[in-house]
Amino acid sequence: MSLRYDLLIRNALVIDGTRRPRFAGDIGVRDARIADIGLLAHARGAVEIDAHGKIAAPGFIDAHTHDDRLLGSDPAMTPKVSQGVTSVIIGNCGISLAPLVSASPPAPLDLIDDGGAFRFADFASFLEELESRPAATNVAALVGHTTLRVASMSRLERAATPAETKRMQALARAALAAGAIGLSTGTYYPPAAHATTEEIIAVARPLKDYGGRYVTHMRHEDDRIAEAMEETFRIGREVGVPVVISHHKVVGARNHGRSVETLALLARAGKRQSVCLDCYPYTASSTVLRADRIALSSRILITWSRPHPECAGMELAQAAERLGLSQEDAVSRLSPAGAIYFSMDEADVQRILQFDETMIGSDGLPHDQKPHPRLWGTFARVLGHYCRDLGLFPLETAIYKMTGLTARNFGLKERGLLLPGCWADITIFDAGEIGDAASFDKPAKLARGIDSVIVNGIVVWREGCSTGTRPGRLLRAGAQRGKEN
Ligand code: ZN
Ligand code: CU
Repeated sequence: MSLRYDLLIRNALVIDGTRRPRFAGDIGVRDARIADIGLLAHARGAVEIDAHGKIAAPGFIDAHTHDDRLLGSDPAMTPKVSQGVTSVIIGNCGISLAPLVSASPPAPLDLIDDGGAFRFADFASFLEELESRPAATNVAALVGHTTLRVASMSRLERAATPAETKRMQALARAALAAGAIGLSTGTYYPPAAHATTEEIIAVARPLKDYGGRYVTHMRHEDDRIAEAMEETFRIGREVGVPVVISHHKVVGARNHGRSVETLALLARAGKRQSVCLDCYPYTASSTVLRADRIALSSRILITWSRPHPECAGMELAQAAERLGLSQEDAVSRLSPAGAIYFSMDEADVQRILQFDETMIGSDGLPHDQKPHPRLWGTFARVLGHYCRDLGLFPLETAIYKMTGLTARNFGLKERGLLLPGCWADITIFDAGEIGDAASFDKPAKLARGIDSVIVNGIVVWREGCSTGTRPGRLLRAGAQRGKEN
């Protein structure tokens, strides 16, 4: 008699997501979970994959995404599963699809809108939709403070009144009760930039009761970054919850090198409270088009423009010349629009990626006409360019930063690890071949070296193609409430 599995992966080099050194083994999957790992030579699988010479790792968790609408509009999740991503965290930077009904939400909410995306009056109905129409990947959702502001305030260009703050707090509590895993803010962006620290603390209060996280695109990432970090830490301490600093970076030539200082601040704060961060592996950022970024960037590329879609892919300088305008005036003419800003220092990016508590998050913008290549390239670039080619860290550490560490920091139980009993999210890849192909010129290019991607025991990606299966699940906070690790 031989053991039988739903799926059997043979002859893999297993990297389990804990940072432990790799070992040779077979992986048996039954009922969507990992049943056994070891020498299973006599076992059989209804589906078998020979992973000879390849790595089997936990499926990657994208710590920072704006895939809120993509899960419904392209449930194959091709930009993500093609890089080995099996779970995404949505609702970042203060931007969530719920709770808000609006035909034309203000920037930056328009980064994920298509004219009809904001149609959920409450967070529970949004989560129900995610659950009833699964995608290829799993998803965990944050509720966005900017969305709460738009839903609760009569005017956005000021701090919230006590009554508005109370309403936002009630909506945040309802979202967490429904299954949101945390609250995100984007005080860098104009509508939320008017929020006081006290407003955010009040809205974030319910996080503590639900074991949620405070996740933030901070007010400043340039000259005043240290001040913004102190505000972030203070909010985490006063609310009494873990803090996640989103896409940590230092912007503007005069601030280059300051990651030495910011990482020291993080390490120091980490001694008295729970803090972590995510990072994408590029020296250019991307968000809405803004005139105040011109002085901080060596080069700006237009990623989309509603009034001038023909300008997507152009340099701002070039678009301005064509329109016969200054760059500042071209920004108003092109808006609403998005852009890529070359404004970081390679040494800072490498230093941040290497920091112990740094997770990998793409911050990909899936609906841009000409998106930043991080959407299609982030995970493969960390594994190929930064880990193998530059030797920033061992492969076991690179995997940990996109699996075990991320699951721990977001409280995702039984995810991010290849251990018996865990959910069977597995990525099989060739360590010698893995690499990003997406570039600023051609951003929608499949990563190299990904062999197979498995979500909850089902193969979703095999040899460069989606299999058409949609086994993704909603990862609710409720399941792990009170069981912090
Ligand atoms: Zn952001
Ligand atoms: Cu973001």
